[in-house]
Amino acid sequence: MQFIYVRIEPTLYKMRGDEGLKSHVLIVGSGGAGVRAALEAAKYGDVIITSKSIPGKGGCTPMAEGGYNAVLRSQDSCVLHSEDTFRGGAYLNDPALVEVLVRESPDRLNDLVRWGAVFDFTEEDTVAQRSFGGQRFPRTCYAGDRTGHEVMMTLLEQLRTSDVQVLSEVTVISLLAEENRVTGAYALTRDGNPVTIRADSTVLATGGGSQIYDISTNSATGTGDGYALGYRAGAELIDMEMVQFHPTGAVYPYDARGRLITEAVRGEGGILTNARGERFMERYDPERMELSTRDVVARAIATEVLEGRGTARGGVYLDVTHLPARQIEEKLPVMLEQFLRFGVDIRSEPMEVAPTAHHFMGGLRITPDCTTTVPGLFACGEAAGGLHGANRLGGNALAETQVFGKRAGESAGKSRKRTDSLPRKAIAVQEERLSAYRSGIENPVKIRRDLRLAMWEGAGIFRTAPELETTLEKVDALAARPLKAYAVSTLAECCTVENMCLVASLVVRSALLRTESRGAHVRTDIKQPWDAATSPFGHTYMSVKRAGIERSGCADAAD
Ligand code: FUM
Repeated sequence: MQFIYVRIEPTLYKMRGDEGLKSHVLIVGSGGAGVRAALEAAKYGDVIITSKSIPGKGGCTPMAEGGYNAVLRSQDSCVLHSEDTFRGGAYLNDPALVEVLVRESPDRLNDLVRWGAVFDFTEEDTVAQRSFGGQRFPRTCYAGDRTGHEVMMTLLEQLRTSDVQVLSEVTVISLLAEENRVTGAYALTRDGNPVTIRADSTVLATGGGSQIYDISTNSATGTGDGYALGYRAGAELIDMEMVQFHPTGAVYPYDARGRLITEAVRGEGGILTNARGERFMERYDPERMELSTRDVVARAIATEVLEGRGTARGGVYLDVTHLPARQIEEKLPVMLEQFLRFGVDIRSEPMEVAPTAHHFMGGLRITPDCTTTVPGLFACGEAAGGLHGANRLGGNALAETQVFGKRAGESAGKSRKRTDSLPRKAIAVQEERLSAYRSGIENPVKIRRDLRLAMWEGAGIFRTAPELETTLEKVDALAARPLKAYAVSTLAECCTVENMCLVASLVVRSALLRTESRGAHVRTDIKQPWDAATSPFGHTYMSVKRAGIERSGCADAAD
């Protein structure tokens, strides 16, 4: 494997005359899904994987704490896992994708274990599992509360012994397309040098976009680039209004706001109380209590705070002080250490938590083989939509990265080899775009900040049409500002902020289309309660050519 960590000099770009780089498969994004896809695709030919940061440093997989869902025990079943996933997703999930996830996630877990991932084991020497929200069986496998980190390190170890070429600190700013077929990508190095990468197939594994919200669990790279890249290349996106707010993000200190407090805390027995000491989940889901689905728990916490029963800092308490200290030390070591750094010993004091933007259930429309609606383009992981419906179950995302990462790599790898020439027209368009940033006027940092605030205020947990319309106006106004690259190294930042504005507008436009409350999408201006059996609505869809919401099997065009 060739690691190119810091600089890709123009000489590399010129490596084959002015033909740029060429590979059978290009993977954009180096999180769990991207690396899994690269490992699989490498069985079929040359693979290049790009990372906006450094593999293992950016992306959300290494930050995923809680676990990986898989059916491993005879008391559990694929039917039960599917039913829990559909119920949690308010029945908006794509059945074909759910079927693949539940069937293949145990095998992909075995791959990880075979490659050396150290999951927690029971005394009987089997992979241990814990309870997570919305699941009728404790099927979440874990490595303490640093499961994603363990998964990522294991994948990187495999990558290191492969022939995959890794381009670190390289930002793809556009897909290249010819005759409606994606033929690679145009990218910038950290120093603003352009790199063209031609590929027979391209896989978007760019993760989610929760960074468009002011408070988010996502790493800085969670800016929704794949949604924007795919949309501009003509691909269709579905259910972009379905943004998951994780119920428990850190409330303070300010710099740590939104940081993930894993659901495993509640899985281990943590309880939620308001400032009056009431165990308020009794009012919202008396049966499942703290282990209700995330949409329900996030709304419950937000309601407690809005109605004046929150803490002075705008959160509620998450308490594990009743658990044995040893259980906390062994099962939640990262939580313990993280809060000790904030001056809170969770063995004797409660944590303070509030909802935080966490995951996009929507994304590029895919088939079970990870093809998108554009030839030559594949998607997997959070970049793809449809698996989780209107609300994701905790633990299904890590499984998704492995199941669909492998499938995307295989599909892309098996695709036909081609001899496309360099798409000069598409490259010229990007060169013009970059040159416009040199004469822009607006600091991208300011646009990013204003966008995040606008989205948090107007397109958060509770939504109304008037607020969404105001937010769309703000987003459109921000998107129209001519961005300025103050140095060549900030050219990529301008492109990222443009992506964020586009993604925000897709979220808000989709939220306006869905005139019902369902899963994570709550329209408080629509009074009739939603019912799975009677809802006329299916997926919302957005592409350059069409946008609308599916209605009982047919599609209603919106614009
Ligand atoms: O709460 C968590 O540990 C997050 C897990 C997930 O999003 O799957």
